[in-house]
Amino acid sequence: MKKYFSILSLLAFAGILMSYSFASADAAKGEEIFNNAKVGNCKTCHNINDKKKVGPGLKGVTDRQPKEWLQKWIADPQAVWDTNGPEVQDLKKRMNKVDKPKTAMKPASKLAPEQVTDVIDYLATLK
Ligand code: HEC
Repeated sequence: MKKYFSILSLLAFAGILMSYSFASADAAKGEEIFNNAKVGNCKTCHNINDKKKVGPGLKGVTDRQPKEWLQKWIADPQAVWDTNGPEVQDLKKRMNKVDKPKTAMKPASKLAPEQVTDVIDYLATLK
């Protein structure tokens, strides 16, 4: 009986370890994409603390913007800018661009949707 329980707890522990390493592997891929000038190139315009660069500092961004919004924004910022939805209005106010028809953010056109998800997983670690 005792042996049976210890095997069970070992399995549970292994499960926790595996799910943890899968989650962090995506964030690690996202970090690489974020920093690589030839791939995501996000670092050129964004700090990972709360200081503005060309764009806003991205610390805590997954708390202020929904993940589905981020997925669309990173792939095609101008299309999302044109929707002028509540997230965009908030961003425009913070950037002092309430009347600007064009966003200064470049689309991550080289990124596959899974890579954008990896970047969002990385952004979620910036707390
Ligand atoms: C050429 C500069 C530039 C690059 C490159 C760039 N961004 Fe941006 N980003 C901006 C600007 C500028 C804004 C704010 C909108 C504006 O002022 O037009 C912004 C806004 C954002 C926001 C919204 C932040 C908030 O506080 O709501 C996110 C998230 C974001 N960018 C992520 C990324 C990611 C991820 C990448 C890389 C794939 C990236 N950006 C590449 C300039 C850039």
